[in-house]
Amino acid sequence: MNYAVVYYSRSGNTKKLADAAAEVLGVSAQDVTTDLTEKADRVFLASSLYAGGYDPSVAEFVKRNADKIGEIVCIGSSASGKSTAKKVKVLADGLNIPVYKRSFNCPGHFLFMHKNRPDGDDLAQLKDFVKSIIEEA
Ligand SMILES: Cc1cc2nc3c(=O)[nH]c(=O)nc-3n(C[C@H](O)[C@H](O)[C@H](O)COP(=O)(O)O)c2cc1C
Repeated sequence: MNYAVVYYSRSGNTKKLADAAAEVLGVSAQDVTTDLTEKADRVFLASSLYAGGYDPSVAEFVKRNADKIGEIVCIGSSASGKSTAKKVKVLADGLNIPVYKRSFNCPGHFLFMHKNRPDGDDLAQLKDFVKSIIEEA
């Protein structure tokens, strides 16, 4: 099974998650502006919540690379505790891309909220989440 980690990050919180997932998977995380060069069985898609949804560049990446994505695993952060996973699922369903049954979301620093999040504990939980998926494969 081969993996890719792709992220969109405005202030670095989502990149932290992507880098932590990539470390476990033994790959480098790439920004959504970079296309996949080969098919990935599982793409960990790190997308956080902005104005109640994902950034449009996340959808553009998924559409451009649909034929190279075996399955999406949603990871991300937000201020409210909500995640982009449901909206990513709607997008992926429209492109016939399966979405992994579990997703990971944690608090992300925004204005006066969640200072220093994601923190070390969040990254440790994410790494456990990623490891549990590898072990299922
Ligand atoms: C412009 C903007 C809009 C946001 N809108 C929401 C929102 O609607 N709901 C929410 O829970 N968090 C919202 N957030 C908080 C982000 O989801 C959170 O800060 C996240 O960790 C940002 O990740 P990033 O640093 O990778 O961009 C918003 C943040 C920004 C900058």
